[in-house]
Formats: sequence, C-alpha cells, structure tokens
Amino acid sequence: MSLALLMQSTGGGAEAAEYVYMAAALLFVLGIKRLSGVRTARSGNWLASIAMFAAVAVTMIVLWDVVGGPILISGLVVGAVIGLLLATRVPLTEMPELVALFNGLGGASSMLVALATTAFYISTMGDPGSAMIDGFSIGTVSAGGGHYAAAIVASIFIGAVTLTGSLIAYGKLSGKVNSSRKGLLGSQAMNVLLLVGALVLCWWGGFAADSYSTILTAQVLLTCVALALGIGLVLPIGGADMPVVISLLNSYSGLAACATGFVLENNLLIVAGSIVGAAGLILTMIMCKAMNRSLTNVIFAKFGEASEKEDTGYTNVKSTSAEEVAQLLDVAQSMIIVPGYGLAVAQAQHKVRELADYMSSKGCDVKYAIHPVAGRMPGHMNVLLAEADVPYEELFELDSINGEFSNTDLVIVVGANDVCNPCANDDPTSPIAGMPVLNVWDAQTVVVIKRSLSHGYAAIKNPLFEADNALMFFGDAKQALQDLVTEVQDL
Ligand code: TAP
Repeated sequence: MSLALLMQSTGGGAEAAEYVYMAAALLFVLGIKRLSGVRTARSGNWLASIAMFAAVAVTMIVLWDVVGGPILISGLVVGAVIGLLLATRVPLTEMPELVALFNGLGGASSMLVALATTAFYISTMGDPGSAMIDGFSIGTVSAGGGHYAAAIVASIFIGAVTLTGSLIAYGKLSGKVNSSRKGLLGSQAMNVLLLVGALVLCWWGGFAADSYSTILTAQVLLTCVALALGIGLVLPIGGADMPVVISLLNSYSGLAACATGFVLENNLLIVAGSIVGAAGLILTMIMCKAMNRSLTNVIFAKFGEASEKEDTGYTNVKSTSAEEVAQLLDVAQSMIIVPGYGLAVAQAQHKVRELADYMSSKGCDVKYAIHPVAGRMPGHMNVLLAEADVPYEELFELDSINGEFSNTDLVIVVGANDVCNPCANDDPTSPIAGMPVLNVWDAQTVVVIKRSLSHGYAAIKNPLFEADNALMFFGDAKQALQDLVTEVQDL
C-alpha cells in the first residue's frame, strides 16, 4: 500500500506530516548549499541532519498505529547502531568504500520497496484475471496514471543496477575484486544485450503484462537482468576511475529513491532523491573535469588495463636525509606543501601543520596546494587539514597555485604521487594524459616524502622522482615530518 494511502487512514496527521516534509525539503536544500563552502559546511551538515531527523520522526508518528511501534523502533535502533559503529570505526581513508556500500543499500531499498508494492497489490487484489486498467498494468490501481507503473519499474531497474554496481565498486576499491577481470559479463556486447532486455522487461512489467502473475514474473526477471547489468557496467572500469563511478552510482541511488518517492507518493522522498541525483551528477562532472576525462571515456575506456602495463623502474633518484632537508628549510623564503593520500594514511596532518607553523614563525611564506582528487575522496585533503586547524587562507586550489611554483624556493610533497606526475602534461600515451596536475617541478627544489618508489593509485611511473631538482626523503610521512621539525628547530 502506498504511504499516501496509509497516511490517509491516519486522518489529519497526514496533512501535518506534509508540512514537516516541506520544511525538511527546504532544510535539505539549504544544507547542501552550505556544504559547498568550507566555512559553512559544518552548519550545512547540521541542517541536513535536523531535516532527516524531522522526516524520520514524523513518518514514525504518522505510521505508528498502522505499521506498529515495535517494528518501527526495531528498525530505528538497528539502523542507528550500525550507523554509529560505521561513523566511529571506519577510517577516513576507507570512506569511498563506505559510500559505495551506502549507495548500494539505497538502491536495494528502492528495488525492494517497488517489488513489495507489486506483491502487496497482487496479494490484496487477488484477481487472477486482467490487471489492466486504462491500458496500464498495476500502475493505475492506486494512482490512476501510467506514471505509477513507470515509477515501479524505474525503482526496480535503477535500484538493482545501483545495488550490484556499488558492490562491485566496493570490491574494487577494497582490493577484493580484480580490476582487470575480463569475461563475457562486463563486455560491451553483453551490456547492450542486458540493457535492451531490461528496457523490454520494464515495458512488459509496467505497461503490457495483463495478469498479476505475468506482471510479477516480468518484474522479477527485470530485477535479475538489472542486477547482472550493474555488475557488467562496473566490472570493466579501472581502479583509478572508481571515484567517478562511485559518484555516478550515488546519483543513480538518488534517482532510484526519487522513483520510489512516486511509488510511495512521498513528496519528501521525491525531493531528497532528486537532490541526491542532481548533486551526484554534478560531482561526477566536476571529478571528470579534474581528471580531464569525459564520462563516456571513464565508462568505456578501461583505464585500469592501460595502467597495469606501465614500467615503474627508476634509474636516477637522489635520496636525502632529515639533516639535508632541514638546511633547505632553514634558508627557504617560500614553501608550498603538497599533501596526498600518504598524508592521510600516516595521519600526519598535525605534524605537517607543526612544520608549517614553525616555518611561518621564521617569516617563510607557507602555502598548501590542494589537488581536487588528492587522496581518496572529494575534499579529502581539506578535511584532514581542517582537522589539524590549518587556516583556510593557506589552502590554494590547483588553478590558483600552479602559477606560483616557479617563484617558490621549496616544495614539500607529502605522500602525494599521481597529482604531481608530469606524465599528465608530457606523455600523451599515459593513462593520466591531460589530467590537470600540480606543476611542483617548476619550484627551485622539490622534496618528496614517501616510503618507497611505489606507484600511486594510477599504478604508473612518476618521472618527478628522477627530476634534477627533486630529492626523495624516504619514510613514513608522520615520522619524516617529526624528524624535520626536530632537525630544523635544532639548527
Ligand atoms: P597516490 O597517487 O595514490 O599516491 C599516494 C602515495 O602515498 C603512494 O605513492 C605511497 O607511496 C604514499 N604513501 C602511502 N602511505 C604513506 C605513508 N604512511 N607515508 C608516506 N607516504 C605514503 O595519491 P595522490 O597523489 O593523493 O593521488 C590520488 C590518486 O587517487 C589519484 O590517482 C586519484 O585519481 C585517485 N583517487 C582519488 C579519489 C578522490 S575523489 N580524491 C578517490 C579514489 C582514487 P609509498 O608506498 O612509497 O609510501
């Protein structure tokens, strides 16, 4: 039964709930707007949390007698405990995997709600004969229009693709699924076949099937085909493109939720789903731009295969020590710090600030260069540095800092690799060719802090490590920075 029908049985409560939903929708919009600025992000998060709390609370109150208090409370407690455990235990570096799982769960919910709605009508109507009304299948039973049938099949289709696509994305990010796996499932031909099959089943299960049993059969088949399509779509995509895929799947989960909003006739779900769908799509486009890749290129180009063939042998690397770098720090008038994924792994954000503070106190001009895809999630470096209370004024985005490297005495690269790989500019055959990178090699001296000559996420060689003005300072970022602070203070 639709949420609207359930609510109607609760009388005036439903009308009050609609007002709360409207207020929550406004808070979501305000919240997401504030999330776009570093200074306002915290309050944006609060606004969105309050909106979600109000939406959940009012839905529970309205449906209390219909669904049953114990069931509602159990769901709330189980969800809250899982959420609390994840929020407190999952490290920031594993956030993309967690987001992938969240997207998958969102898709699964939409798919299950739509299937349950169909099953509900079939069990309550119980008429084995024609289920066609005004030319539509089950769609017109409740809402009196084809949009209802479309919403049900869209929820199943998009929800199922999101579920398995997100699980494969999670597997790839966590290294549990091989990035270069080849097979029938995942080939473009099979994907096209599955897509056509899914669309035919959408039409059959939503509009053409004329008995309850065939509607159910069509929708169950649609579920299976869409689940296979989700696997096939994500399986061939390379590891370095995963952030874009996760963001796209996030958008899908929003679209699926929006369709489910029409199934349940829940205005807030329609609004919230649309916001997630649009926000996910915008983020996808921003990330594509940051990697200088088109969305079709990400989905069809098999980035991972190209990168695995790269040779990572180095011949001319100069390694350095804390004492030597301390001498450079002592005379540097300007310094740019380039943080990357290794900073997050080492949790060295407080140490890097300690070094930066010391240098600033000596009169050195200190800046941080933030690449849009440094780390493993959008805004990863901003979050880490904010945690260490690094002033926002010292953070500079790629476009505004790239021209400054040539006037800088010293660049300290802390656990970054791909985001400062000159191949992106110089080698058109490189898998990252055309991706905007930080031109750190333009500075007088570049010190790269990392543990070894291992490659970064894109699994390619970085000629920066062999540059004449580059020095490799091998070690864990936190320990290396601690050694630098100690050495430079002792001079
Ligand atoms: P990466 O290119 O991945 O390089 C990180 C480097 O950190 C590695 O080479 C590693 O070298 C070093 N490292 C690891 N642990 C360390 C530690 N404890 N101390 C010091 N160094 C350590 O990182 P990046 O430059 O930040 O680039 C990000 C990459 O991830 C891009 O290719 C991007 O496309 C991709 N990606 C981005 C996102 C988003 S949205 N930000 C999401 C997923 C993937 P050693 O092992 O030698 O120490």
